[in-house]
Amino acid sequence: MHRFLRLSTLLIGLFAAVGSYAVDAPQPAPMTEDDLGPAIEQPIEFPHNRHAGLRNPNDPTNSDPLKGGMEIDCMYCHTYARRSAVAGIPPLQKCIGCHQSIASVRETPRIKKLFEYWDAKKAIPWKKVHDLPDFVRFSHERHIERFISQLNRPVQEVCGYCHGNVKEMTVARRSKSLAMGWCASCHQKDHPVTAEGGKPIGNQAYWYNFQKPAADTSGGAVKAQGPNDCWQCHK
Ligand code: HEC
Ligand code: HEC
Ligand code: HEC
Ligand code: HEC
Ligand code: HEC
Repeated sequence: MHRFLRLSTLLIGLFAAVGSYAVDAPQPAPMTEDDLGPAIEQPIEFPHNRHAGLRNPNDPTNSDPLKGGMEIDCMYCHTYARRSAVAGIPPLQKCIGCHQSIASVRETPRIKKLFEYWDAKKAIPWKKVHDLPDFVRFSHERHIERFISQLNRPVQEVCGYCHGNVKEMTVARRSKSLAMGWCASCHQKDHPVTAEGGKPIGNQAYWYNFQKPAADTSGGAVKAQGPNDCWQCHK
């Protein structure tokens, strides 16, 4: 019962939200798979390509970073992804830890600005690039756990399912729609957890809490929730 009530609250809230949109601004056009979201002006343009991009194979010592990245692990900076709902943005100390000993870019406008924040003891006010509405519940942890820890997929590939090819971006952009149907289209696929022999481990549902509806043998209602169980994603 309380679930039903929460859904009605959600829907009423949504009508109100959509209503005020219509007055103030045109609805944004729906994104297609290959679109990049709006470019967001950040206090410092952070080049993912130079930090997380692939090394230049012709330059193994990486003496010319402009031609290749440093392949820093995404989770070296976004440390919380594996253990919490948010992935987190690295604190300024992490940038300074490296940049205080990197002479080659010490005097560039962006790095000067970095040290201005540091000297003023201020955090960099990064703006959000991805921002789901508050009525959606999303957690990095479960996705990272499944795809990286259990299915053993490479980190950059997994982040890429939802963030696109960040390692080549000169400034972070949204590249997937993040719409409800987009989330669901992945949940509808099987992501079997396989042991080394390639067999599913145990008899577990592949979707964790999104269990496949059990076959309806009794003629009664199907009890298990399918991948579209509203309450997994909406509080
Ligand atoms: C050296 C640290 C560092 C590394 C390595 C790094 N990032 Fe980031 N990332 C940042 C910072 C700082 C921001 C905030 C600035 C921005 O959004 O452009 C950010 C922003 C992001 C955002 C946008 C966050 C939002 O507001 O929605 C995504 C997505 C992201 N990173 C993914 C990745 C992925 C994927 C990798 C690995 C390919 C990676 N990052 C590697 C530092 C890093
Ligand atoms: C592991 C070391 C390391 C960390 C951590 C790191 N950087 Fe860098 N960063 C570098 C190196 C190396 C370069 C490229 C130097 C070069 O081109 O010679 C660079 C380049 C940059 C540039 C481009 C400079 C320019 O204008 O040419 C920016 C901006 C930058 N880093 C910001 C950051 C920020 C912000 C953080 C923290 C979120 C950060 N870096 C963390 C090593 C690091
Ligand atoms: C299954 C999809 C999915 C995967 C996989 C994923 N993300 Fe995200 N990420 C999202 C969504 C959705 C948001 C926006 C969350 C919100 O607004 O509440 C987000 C937000 C972020 C942010 C912004 C800050 C925050 O924590 O909310 C960063 C940084 C980020 N992701 C980095 C990463 C990195 C690094 C990886 C790989 C280790 C990764 N993500 C894997 C979907 C994903
Ligand atoms: C690349 C495929 C993929 C995409 C894209 C994806 N998911 Fe998932 N999601 C999964 C898998 C696989 C699981 C099951 C994880 C597990 O084993 O617990 C899952 C689990 C979840 C859970 C259950 C977590 C829990 O606490 O039980 C929620 C909630 C969720 N996803 C929300 C979302 C939302 C919201 C989006 C879109 C913004 C999204 N997912 C996009 C694959 C995906
Ligand atoms: C896999 C996660 C997931 C599941 C399951 C899910 N939703 Fe959503 N829902 C979302 C996301 C993400 C958004 C935000 C879409 C956006 O911002 O474009 C959303 C948005 C909505 C909206 C706002 C209108 C819209 O389309 O943007 C409503 C209403 C809604 N969901 C209802 C439901 C109902 C009812 C169910 C069950 C049948 C359900 N949702 C199941 C993830 C989910």
